[in-house]
Amino acid sequence: MGILQALAVSVSMCVPQAASAPIAPPPDYTWWREARFGMFIHWGLYAEAAGTWRKRFLGGWTEWLLSKGQIDPVQYQHELLPRFDPAGFDATAIVSAARRAGMGYIVITTKHHEGFCLWDSADSPSDIAMTPFAARGRSPLKELADACQQEGIRLGFYYSLLDWHDADYLPRRAWDARSADGVDYARYAQRTRTHLEELLGGQFGDIDILWGDGDWEHGPEAHGSRDLLARARDLQPGLLVNNRWSLPGDYDTPENTIPDAPLSRPWETCMTMNESWGYTPRVDTYKPAAELVRMLADIASKDGNFLLNVGPDGNGRLDAVALKRLGEIGEWMDHNAESIRGTRGAGTIHAPAVYPWGRLTVREGADTGGAGGGAGGGGAGGGAGGELYLHVFERPESGEIVLPGLAAAVDSVSVLGLAGIGGEPIEFMHRGADGVVALPPGVHTSGSSMDTVIRLEVASWPPIAGTPRPSVEPGLFEESTPLGFEVAPGSEVLVTTDGSEPRISGPTTRTLRGSNDTVPLTVTSRVRARSVVRGAVTGDPFAGTYTLATPWPAVAGMSPRLAATVLEGGPGQFVHAPGSALFIAQPEGMAPPRSSAIAVSSIALPPGLPEDNFAVQFDGVIDVPATGIWTFWLTSDDGSMLWIDGRPVVDNDGPHGAKDVRGQAPLAAGAHTIRVGFFEGGGAATLSLEWAGPGGERHVVPTSAFGGG
Ligand code: GLC
Repeated sequence: MGILQALAVSVSMCVPQAASAPIAPPPDYTWWREARFGMFIHWGLYAEAAGTWRKRFLGGWTEWLLSKGQIDPVQYQHELLPRFDPAGFDATAIVSAARRAGMGYIVITTKHHEGFCLWDSADSPSDIAMTPFAARGRSPLKELADACQQEGIRLGFYYSLLDWHDADYLPRRAWDARSADGVDYARYAQRTRTHLEELLGGQFGDIDILWGDGDWEHGPEAHGSRDLLARARDLQPGLLVNNRWSLPGDYDTPENTIPDAPLSRPWETCMTMNESWGYTPRVDTYKPAAELVRMLADIASKDGNFLLNVGPDGNGRLDAVALKRLGEIGEWMDHNAESIRGTRGAGTIHAPAVYPWGRLTVREGADTGGAGGGAGGGGAGGGAGGELYLHVFERPESGEIVLPGLAAAVDSVSVLGLAGIGGEPIEFMHRGADGVVALPPGVHTSGSSMDTVIRLEVASWPPIAGTPRPSVEPGLFEESTPLGFEVAPGSEVLVTTDGSEPRISGPTTRTLRGSNDTVPLTVTSRVRARSVVRGAVTGDPFAGTYTLATPWPAVAGMSPRLAATVLEGGPGQFVHAPGSALFIAQPEGMAPPRSSAIAVSSIALPPGLPEDNFAVQFDGVIDVPATGIWTFWLTSDDGSMLWIDGRPVVDNDGPHGAKDVRGQAPLAAGAHTIRVGFFEGGGAATLSLEWAGPGGERHVVPTSAFGGG
């Protein structure tokens, strides 16, 4: 057997997922983004224990009781299963409390780390069928699903991969006396699959979210995450999955924290209302309603979702404080929901989310059709307008809410829920580049006000001018490239190309009056740009260097092709690649790496590679379809390098997790030599090469570029 055949055999034994199905993107998650606000429900045996074991109250996260108290898992189940009889559970009451609070979806723990399944499972050492509750003919998940259906609320299932009780789950907790001999983790993984099939197979109707957790003790291979999620989406085609299946999933899930700025992927902060996810009797730790409402606005302003937790008690009921908080949020939502639901974060119009007085959310598209008479509005190219929602957390001493760079004409101003207070109109003015709202006296004066929302209907979009955004990213350019900027209607962009500060009527300053206006780049230039609204400069400047490049000539007489060599070594042999991704450390006494040729059709890792400690070098000829500046993105885990025509183009070297690095090359249409080096020390291994031609979209370099079909 050759090395590679041997490798293929050993790999297929230890990586059963090698040929697994890709997870297709979900068809649509507009509903999720538009809902913005959901309810998390933590409910299991831990609710019955309420943080107490054998009369000792352990507090904190009560769903972690088994671990906190170092309780024998078998004993835990043995004592709690017969006690689980939450006769007061009323799914309709919980779902309608969520709906009245303005929430659009619910995610409930179907199995938490304690291992208890909240449904009747055909394969589980601990499930609801073993409780007196089931003996009453009750099925909480079914009841919840029906109530959601009735109330028009979407439903998601939380499922923990980590399981302290299942005898096939490893590793054992230190205090668990059961032997791990003969335990087969694959059996546990199979059980997980059965569970997901039971949960998603139809008995609970449409399920919209699969919210994984507890993935930190094993990687995606052990869990079979890829196949699991592909199967889940087969069963529920619209399913969204979070990022806690040891895979990136559809969205990120910051826990009990709100990011300072928008994240690059869709995201949802999950948050406890008090100190625990599971029910706790310590009601004094509840956050005030004002804090929760401001969190919701803060998250929405950063284009995220808010999953706010409740923990029903052992009787199945929400405690009075949780209900009060939901009610208080609901009262605020009664008047202000339009500033949350269906809005986007301020970053989507390149405006800041955070202001000294509060936050900003926006909604494009509702052309208000107003007279548009406001100063400075209605510039060239202004499409339909939209709405800006200014969430006031703190009333400034001056009573003035200032929105910098507001270029659009403002058709109307109102305070949500306070229309016509005292019959007085709300004063608004453009002052320099700013829009200024004068908060009426008496509005939002005390610290107890939660979030007073001012709605501005604007006549054009984007309504705010800030740091100018260029039509061509800084970097290489070809002779006579026109450089434009996005110009918000009602604003202008000042541009210099010699590195000097752009000034109104400055001698070297050009003024762009619309997004079609351009400055021709002819020589290497240090470009600076600044927005101007109603004659006043606003926002931070843009600065970037554009370097003139002459296309590297194509090589005549070569046809596209690709080949690769694999080097296989021992631990520490491929550490990182200064100058070459095939850098090889030669620890003393270690044999030189074994090398073999493999067939490839694209720059990606073929199946059958070792798990760790290897390198791959791709060499070939790439067919470049058009002359111009080509941008390349090389994504890898660990390091990689790209050379074209013998020159380094992307350096993504070093031992690291999946990371993409961008590089550019000016290329004449035709054949060019290409080399990609890649090395893998340990952990996950990934490699991909993407490119974008002049004016084109970023996409994976197709096999046809290497002469493949
Ligand atoms: C963590 C905790 C868990 C909680 C969850 C919510 O993973 O282990 O108790 O359910 O986060 O995000």
